[in-house]
Amino acid sequence: MQGVVLISGSGSNLQSIIDQATDIDLTIGCVISNYADAYGLIRAENAGISHHVVDHTQFDSRETFDQAVSKTIDQYSPDIIILAGFMRIFTEAFAKKYCGKMLNIHPSLLPKFQGLNTHQRVIDAGEKEHGVSIHFVTAELDGGPVIAQSSVAVLANDNANSLAKRVLVEEHKIYPEVIHWFTQGRLKLKNDKAVLDGEIL
Ligand code: GRF
Repeated sequence: MQGVVLISGSGSNLQSIIDQATDIDLTIGCVISNYADAYGLIRAENAGISHHVVDHTQFDSRETFDQAVSKTIDQYSPDIIILAGFMRIFTEAFAKKYCGKMLNIHPSLLPKFQGLNTHQRVIDAGEKEHGVSIHFVTAELDGGPVIAQSSVAVLANDNANSLAKRVLVEEHKIYPEVIHWFTQGRLKLKNDKAVLDGEIL
């Protein structure tokens, strides 16, 4: 199955997807970043994958930025759009256009801790458990149906960095697995619900 991966930064999730692409039946058509200096672009280059920068600062509205991203995506006719640390909020029109084939990874146990700085907020809130969620992207920010989660314990001496590192280990395992469900045709979005092998998740 053909996919496009959108990133904004380091791209460690992108790397785990690249490393497992063959096993999960995924061909990455291209990587798109909204930052020209995202390290993930070097990962794409090293893997021989086409990459593009669509710099959000060059657009005067979310609509025109989204249109440019969309135009780039559509050149590859992807079956799946994988948001892997892509740090821009899409317009409703964009989310609707790719509804049912766009996945996102969010570093919290949704619906808890939507938005940014999740690791620090989890520590500040005194949570005992934290983790990662993979969800379908719908028009609601970090609010689309959750497909899978993986949790880690929050330790007494954790800071945001140490906690983020342990969550990332889970991210790198769970995202390729979920993508594989999708490429196998086992995972679908039906009536706003995530469905795996015919069962609502
Ligand atoms: C990850 O924690 C992801 O969940 C979040 O941004 C981070 C991206 O990390 N949305 P990387 O670029 O994949 O290394």
